[in-house]
Amino acid sequence: MASEQAGAAQVLVASNRGPVTYSLGADGTLDAKRGGGGLVSGLSAIGDEADALWVCSALGDGDREAVRRGVGEPGVRMLDIDAAVHADAYNGIANSVLWFVHHMLYQTPLEPAFGPEFRAQWAAYETYNRAFAEALAHEAAPGAAVLVQDYHLALVPGMLRELRADLRIGHFSHTPWAPVDYFRLLPDDIAEQLLRGMLGADRLGFLTGRWADAFTACCVAVLGGTSGTRIGVHGLGADADFLRERSRRPDVEERLAALREQIGPDRKIIVRVDRTELSKNIVRGLGAYRQLLAERPEWRERVVHVAFAYPSRQDLAVYCDYTAEVARVAEAINSAYGTAGWTPVVLHVKDDFARSLAAYRLADVALVNPIRDGMNLVAKEVPVVSDEGCALVLSREAGAHEELAEDALTINPYDVSATAAALHEALVMPPEERAERTKRLAAAATALPPAQWFLDQLQALTT
Ligand code: F6P
Repeated sequence: MASEQAGAAQVLVASNRGPVTYSLGADGTLDAKRGGGGLVSGLSAIGDEADALWVCSALGDGDREAVRRGVGEPGVRMLDIDAAVHADAYNGIANSVLWFVHHMLYQTPLEPAFGPEFRAQWAAYETYNRAFAEALAHEAAPGAAVLVQDYHLALVPGMLRELRADLRIGHFSHTPWAPVDYFRLLPDDIAEQLLRGMLGADRLGFLTGRWADAFTACCVAVLGGTSGTRIGVHGLGADADFLRERSRRPDVEERLAALREQIGPDRKIIVRVDRTELSKNIVRGLGAYRQLLAERPEWRERVVHVAFAYPSRQDLAVYCDYTAEVARVAEAINSAYGTAGWTPVVLHVKDDFARSLAAYRLADVALVNPIRDGMNLVAKEVPVVSDEGCALVLSREAGAHEELAEDALTINPYDVSATAAALHEALVMPPEERAERTKRLAAAATALPPAQWFLDQLQALTT
């Protein structure tokens, strides 16, 4: 596309999930809800720029209706991509293939199997990526910077480069990157297409050196090299100012009181907060807690595990099964050990950010045990918000571990017994040590706040 057909935006962000979603009421009204999470807070730095545009996908009926009615926020363009194409691209390829590869979630002997269904979904993934590339090519001013986000849009850099050679294109991966042997589970032509798609960018960003090195290794193994594309590491941190202010508001105080009431006095609190996500390893975490109660009866009646597990990706059967399994295991612990005045596991599944912050403030111990995680912002948010200091039991497979290892209690996430032992160690940690560690964890966790994380990438791309 020639630059005279170019648009006006100087800085563009592209991601599957945008900063706002709409729900459609029975009476036809549209209700806007701003999203949360690291991506949204990081990329909201773009909001300060007048000539910036965030291109995202319409995700449900409400979003689609908003696009049809021309309802939207300034600086945001939602793409109304055919719902069936989006479902195959998002549920089929992004979340059932690429997510599984990068988090190493497949369970042989049945998975993976790349047959005709996969090929049809792959075609949808290409169509979906092309829709983004075309929209970005249309909206970008000559020489504009485009920052493409994540595994949903791995083909966009290459496609966009073909349409607009004048643009500066970056891509950032919010997930881990698979080791070579695991990445090569993908059909050869697909592995090649993915890597070439990403290498269409001028610069690629990853959350840790480990994921960046894995990507480079895949490029060397599959393509023979990274063909000059620059690669950088930007470890997204927690937003201290926002979290400290938000966690002191009245709605959080209210939930704090309710949680205290529910837990009962003089009890230690182990907190976890996750999407109900296979990679978050919630069932093994509950298993470790059960082992703690079984082997160390002195903790019975004296500790409560507050587990917030918010439903996620419920279009996928395996996520629905996992959600049910989490509830079943929590219930089994409560019926095995609970008493009239003590519920060992308090499981909440309704997403409530204010209640999560209240739990962060109260926690004596935070359990963050993913089997693999790009970063994990919960591990970074808890120390910032904690009232009295909180011991952090942290998987060595979380990206956050690279920055927090020194003051966390490190676990191998598959080792349930070691996790149970780490929970005990965390519970008996002297309060002064806990407070000291929390202070240092908070400093490390906030080293690169979301706005700076974004601006660093923009600067690296444009200089
Ligand atoms: O990179 C992973 C990610 O896209 C995060 O930004 C976010 O935490 C999570 O996955 C959300 O997944 P989904 O958009 O499928 O709900």
